[in-house]
Amino acid sequence: MLIRIPQVLSPQALAQVQAALADAEWQDGRLTAGPQASQVKNNEQLAPLAELSRQLQGLVLGALERNTTFFSAALPKRVLPPMFNRYSGAANTYGNHVDQAIRYTPGSGQRVRTDLSCTLFLAEPADYEGGELVIADTYGEQRVKLAAGDMVLYPGTSVHRVEPVTRGARLASFFWIESMVRSDEQRRLLFEMDQALMRLRAEQGECEAAVALTGTYHNLLRMWADT
Ligand code: NI
Repeated sequence: MLIRIPQVLSPQALAQVQAALADAEWQDGRLTAGPQASQVKNNEQLAPLAELSRQLQGLVLGALERNTTFFSAALPKRVLPPMFNRYSGAANTYGNHVDQAIRYTPGSGQRVRTDLSCTLFLAEPADYEGGELVIADTYGEQRVKLAAGDMVLYPGTSVHRVEPVTRGARLASFFWIESMVRSDEQRRLLFEMDQALMRLRAEQGECEAAVALTGTYHNLLRMWADT
């Protein structure tokens, strides 16, 4: 399931990130790719442990912590520190690949299983040509190009690519999440139930049915979650 989460970054936070990235020092994206991916990867990234990366990571993680839709959709157990990339000029594309199943947190070396992949768009779509994130899904290919500040969550199991950027620069933050609920199918059921419960509460208040169904939601989460 692909989930779009709009306006993860406030306009102020977005402007701050964009200003910082305008003067950033970029390095070859292949430095963090596995053997298969590095053959098709041609973009640039910030060094994960650079001071600027750390500042921007804090900003993105802070925004995620305040975002209830993100929590409901991802049920995060561990979030890898967000990384930042740029597609422009001659380094402008990333061919079809699947992300590595296990990644290591830079610095601590903690293992994280990549249940969910995440892209937070940081450049306005009008400022670059191409650069769609194309994700193979059970319904066919999904082409994703979102407003700056919006984010897409998709299963780590998906084959995906970034189309060549033929004008301007595509800036994004990307990262992975190990979920408390490993199964995409179970996570989806919980997300749909949580969204429906919010609508029920908005329409009916804390009625008896809402209380009972909230109990069922938590009991399913108790059964499926691994903390
Ligand atoms: Ni990828």
